[in-house]
Amino acid sequence: MPITINNQEDIKKMRIAGKLASEVLDFITPLIKPNITTEKIDSLCHDFMTNEQGTVPAPLNYAPPGHTPFPKSICTSVNNQICHGIPGEKILKKGDVVNIDITVIKDGYHGDTSRMFFVGEPSIQAKRLCEVTYQSMWLGIREVKAGAYLGDIGHAIQSYAESKSYSVVREFCGHGIGKVFHDEPQVLHYGTPGDGLKLEAGMIFTIEPMINAGKKDIKVLPDNWTVVTKDRSLSAQWEHTILVTDKGYEVLTVSKDTPTPFLD
Ligand code: MF3
Ligand code: CO
Ligand code: CO
Repeated sequence: MPITINNQEDIKKMRIAGKLASEVLDFITPLIKPNITTEKIDSLCHDFMTNEQGTVPAPLNYAPPGHTPFPKSICTSVNNQICHGIPGEKILKKGDVVNIDITVIKDGYHGDTSRMFFVGEPSIQAKRLCEVTYQSMWLGIREVKAGAYLGDIGHAIQSYAESKSYSVVREFCGHGIGKVFHDEPQVLHYGTPGDGLKLEAGMIFTIEPMINAGKKDIKVLPDNWTVVTKDRSLSAQWEHTILVTDKGYEVLTVSKDTPTPFLD
């Protein structure tokens, strides 16, 4: 299957979906505090999406082949959880770090973004892991340009994360996105410059590196969704939805409170 090249109409709609996804994170930011449960975060986000935004939470009942339907509207992945954490009775406590991953559908188009949040003051180790993961996402984004290769992105992410003695999760990757939630291409967060698909203006995909403080190996919990580090080390992830342009890239998942890149 060829990779979708989005036209101006598609791009307009993807800008709207991307901004809305980011605005859910802006909305929830002040509420991430000790004693909130992850299911409370889910229900607040769910209500905001459905009642305030008129968006559809894409994760709710999402069921790719071989999976049971995802039971909630967002993913909340705490500490050693890498991704796809199911919101539940877990009470967040001081020192936890949590990834909140939002995917909305608006007018048939998906916007997908996630950020890390500190619950109270983080440990030095947790703060460093989140910062390195954020920087690695941005180093990947910075490679995006018509004529560049997917391998350039993966290599930028992997070489930076590994230079800090962290490891890159291999089993999950960024993905094409648009009318389809998880489309081609697969955007690996490791690789070799010049390898893989050549980028063209109009392609849209996510970059969403999962970086572990310990080893790269994963385990899936019996709930069939929550992915954790096998060695129980901390894990972090950030995600943006990116449009390829002739000159470079446009980040589609931006809103008022999107953290700014901190490069160099
Ligand atoms: N938002 C996730 C991603 O970045 C996917 C979540 S699928 C779910 O691709 F079913 F777990 F919600
Ligand atoms: Co994604
Ligand atoms: Co996501």
